[in-house]
Amino acid sequence: MRNATITGWGKCMPPATLTNDDIATFLDTDDEWITSRTGIRERRISHLSLEEMGALAAHRALACADLAPDALDLIVFGTCSFDQQVPNSASGVQKRIGAVNAGAMDVNTACTSYLYGLTSAAAMISQGVVNNALVIGGELISPLMDWTDRGVAVLFGDGCAATVLQATDRNEGLRASKLGCYGEVREILLVHGMGQRYANRGWYNGDTQWVFEGQEIFKRAVVGMSQACQDVLEQCGMGPDDVDLVVPHQANLRIIEAVIKRSGLSMDRCFVNVQRYGNMSAATVPVALVEALEEGRIKPGANILLTGFGGGLTWSAQLLRWGERVTPLHETHIEMPPCEQTALQMVEGYLAAKRGSGESAPE
Ligand code: UT7
Repeated sequence: MRNATITGWGKCMPPATLTNDDIATFLDTDDEWITSRTGIRERRISHLSLEEMGALAAHRALACADLAPDALDLIVFGTCSFDQQVPNSASGVQKRIGAVNAGAMDVNTACTSYLYGLTSAAAMISQGVVNNALVIGGELISPLMDWTDRGVAVLFGDGCAATVLQATDRNEGLRASKLGCYGEVREILLVHGMGQRYANRGWYNGDTQWVFEGQEIFKRAVVGMSQACQDVLEQCGMGPDDVDLVVPHQANLRIIEAVIKRSGLSMDRCFVNVQRYGNMSAATVPVALVEALEEGRIKPGANILLTGFGGGLTWSAQLLRWGERVTPLHETHIEMPPCEQTALQMVEGYLAAKRGSGESAPE
């Protein structure tokens, strides 16, 4: 049996931090509302491009696995906030890290993009199409955020992480996946202002307006993720008690708690870092996975349940059996370029550009 197992991991978290109090300086909101409704206390605002974040996370993951860039056969970049549509983000990372033998593809299923990418790359490894893959989940949301809308601006943040996935004959790696989508309600999470629907309409690309039916998304997210978790556990003949750690999409602490309860799982065995970063869309699960390893929450041979939901409304779960190694083999000495501005200064720049545009969504 040819399995696909994670042998390398690395994150790139931009340092500039935007607190709830920072947001309250330009929006009618407060720390108490944001913390009690979402669990979020702060988020990062990136001074790097998405591809720069992806490349740094990739260098760190490759060093962790002690794998040379030219040994990669495939790069999958899960994102919905690419620097540009053509050429894609994965090719940008391929060039930056010198992965000259790797194919390069982007996957966009919004917040589940890393998870869909992981399943895709693992399937290619199992089939013998590739041996060594890099799966990245990253988002640069801050320039695309509508910073005048308190209903969404408080929820999101920037970040990135990457994992190296390699073929193995050992009984470890990705054991089961479930992918799903509630396409019939896809309009309840919709971002106007990104894509060719807006071309030639005098719309500045990236000047967004978000349709965001929070409570409806909340309900669907809980049902979809719980169903996916149950499905992968059944595929493996396992029950909730067999799960050593759940690493869920970090959109809202209340959503995580509801999924854990509905699935008969335990919050003691669930990794949560939404308070530090908010919803980083495709980056949440891989960043959480990296931090769970850094904090010693993943033991050799552990059963890890990943789950997420996002625009589409896509949802998924993946069950991993971790290998023997839970520490990096090496570290890279490549450093992040310094950040010259505060998070609030960067956001005030986006806000000023938004206020200057004065556009509205097409019918
Ligand atoms: O990865 C996919 C991303 N999507 C999600 O994760 C969305 C899932 N949904 C949620 O996380 C929650 O529904 C929210 C956090 C978005 C909202 O929480 P809620 O408990 O469902 O609040 P609500 O939408 O019912 O709003 C309650 C009140 C409203 O005021 P009124 O109409 O009751 O007077 C809002 O206008 O809270 C108001 N409100 C705010 N107040 C202060 C909305 N946003 C804010 C804010 N600060 N930032």
